[in-house]
Amino acid sequence: MAEPLILALASHKGGTGRTTTALTLAWAFGQSGHSVAFVDADEQHAASLLALNAQGECPWPGVRFHTTADVLKKPMDADVVVVDPPALTAPTAAWVLQQVHGVILTCLADPMSIRTVPAAAAVIERTRANHPRLELLGLLVCMYRADDPVQAAMLTRMHQAHRDLLLDPVIPFQANLRDWPMRPGSPPAEGLGREAIVTFAHHFEPILAGA
Ligand SMILES: Nc1ncnc2c1ncn2[C@@H]1O[C@H](COP(=O)(O)OP(=O)(O)O)[C@@H](O)[C@H]1O
Ligand SMILES: [Mg+2]
Repeated sequence: MAEPLILALASHKGGTGRTTTALTLAWAFGQSGHSVAFVDADEQHAASLLALNAQGECPWPGVRFHTTADVLKKPMDADVVVVDPPALTAPTAAWVLQQVHGVILTCLADPMSIRTVPAAAAVIERTRANHPRLELLGLLVCMYRADDPVQAAMLTRMHQAHRDLLLDPVIPFQANLRDWPMRPGSPPAEGLGREAIVTFAHHFEPILAGA
């Protein structure tokens, strides 16, 4: 059994679309035929509220859902593990990150969210001191609205200030993704946000194929 790729979506602050994006990413990997483990390591357990149906099961093909970070203590039987860690400021975040190979920082194209990026990157850098295997894969802008002039201006600034970090594509705002908690266990609703996350998932195909 080859070791799985362990990815985490992290942010300094809540409300950046981290949980929604992490779940959609896991769903997308499952759709591509990979065996996926999702680890809801956030003590707020928002991911569980979205992904688990009335029977307490995640019915998505290929996805095994775990409601505690403890599963990361043992080798996991999956191609890819997607982790929803607690906010980076939480005391438990460091341990979770130490179990991870690649971290994706999520943020919004808004002034407050951008200001948190250096602090978030610093937490990753500090964790790397004891766990050099952890790689900062980049910055994923979520819930982007191109029709909002402030967000458009912020994205331009991010291209200037964080060019090397910015990941492709930006994840657009998709109104019906917000309704997910009304239909727990359902797949992410179809739309531009989901499509962008599927495209993002494809970037990992060469690694998952062992290339
Ligand atoms: N791409 C998106 N389009 C529309 N709404 C989104 C999108 N991503 C997340 N949301 C909504 O934004 C809010 C915060 O998202 P969430 O995933 O809980 O963020 P976090 O885990 O960073 O706190 C939720 O109401 C969620 O439904
Ligand atoms: Mg969350």
